[in-house]
Amino acid sequence: MPHKIAVIGGDGIGPEVTAVALDVMRAAGAVLDTTDFRLGGFRYLEDGVILPDEILEELRRYEAILLGAVGTPEVPPGVIERGLLLKARFELDLYVNLRPFVLPNGHEFVVIRENTEGTYAGEGGFLRKGTADEIATQGSVNTRKGAERCIRYGFELARSRTRKHLTLVHKTNVLTFSGDLWDRTFQEVSNEYPDVETAYNHVDAACIYFVEDPTRYEVVVTDNLFGDILTDLGGAISGGIGLAASANLNPERMAPSLFEPVHGSAPDIAGKGLANPTAAVLSGAMMLDFLGESVIAERVRMACEGVPSSGRTEEIASAIHNNLVQDQT
Ligand code: NAI
Ligand code: MG
Repeated sequence: MPHKIAVIGGDGIGPEVTAVALDVMRAAGAVLDTTDFRLGGFRYLEDGVILPDEILEELRRYEAILLGAVGTPEVPPGVIERGLLLKARFELDLYVNLRPFVLPNGHEFVVIRENTEGTYAGEGGFLRKGTADEIATQGSVNTRKGAERCIRYGFELARSRTRKHLTLVHKTNVLTFSGDLWDRTFQEVSNEYPDVETAYNHVDAACIYFVEDPTRYEVVVTDNLFGDILTDLGGAISGGIGLAASANLNPERMAPSLFEPVHGSAPDIAGKGLANPTAAVLSGAMMLDFLGESVIAERVRMACEGVPSSGRTEEIASAIHNNLVQDQT
């Protein structure tokens, strides 16, 4: 049976990199029945559509969603990101944002970013906007349930690995309310996982360790905003943003999970044939894993090994394809 996949290429380099990801997955043996959804900043500029509820309901019928990137300089920041990407994450309850990294020395670690709460929940507002007395607030929403389900996912993932180690990253010394909730929840859940070793780092210290001593990390769990920033740094230390893949998971499979490269639509290089498709291909491999196609997923991942980290899209795509052919002969 083919897997039913919704594809949102999106803006800028998004369609270029998802096209390569689909080609590579199929060449590796994946049987995919794909439907393209014309969504992104370009569509908003055409007819004002971002992600209406009817389309969201349609997306629910697919096994998974593969997304390139959305957002374009012609649309004010936040309109598409909030209206499309965050809406999909919140409405489909994709509460685990999983981002694996492979360092140049071969060490592999994973960051779990909470994906539905924190400062991204959109709590806040303006008072006296545009005046000298303007006030803007941006709240952070943290629920016990929201923190616990992510932390629990972290412990389960850590338990499944050879080195059973989980680090909580937060800023408990300053964010004494949300940090306290996260820290207490982490301590309580850890009692159920005596086989998993734990650590805690403040987020600023974690930035230093990511650069100077990243092999200390095996699985990291953190909140939405810290995870967003820390995983861009994770991309930078592991071969660049052109390689960083991610999965937005609904682990209970009550809705389709969404797979996307960490990078954005890169308007500066869009249409020039200079996008590295590897991050999208590796996101495709994460999708195949989630669909139960782990043999094909591994084949895709192996094919990405040793390919150039920059250059023309088609050259990198052919290098991946060549590796696949060699693997199969
Ligand atoms: P970006 O990730 O699009 O680009 C940052 C820099 O990295 C640029 O110099 C770009 O050329 C380069 N780059 C990114 N991906 C690359 C790739 N695959 N190969 C080679 N170079 C690559 O981030 P930026 O510029 O902050 O955002 C551009 C737009 O994308 C904005 O509208 C932003 O909101 C949106 N965005 C969307 C995301 C998503 O759909 N998940 C994530 C991040 C940003
Ligand atoms: Mg980001």
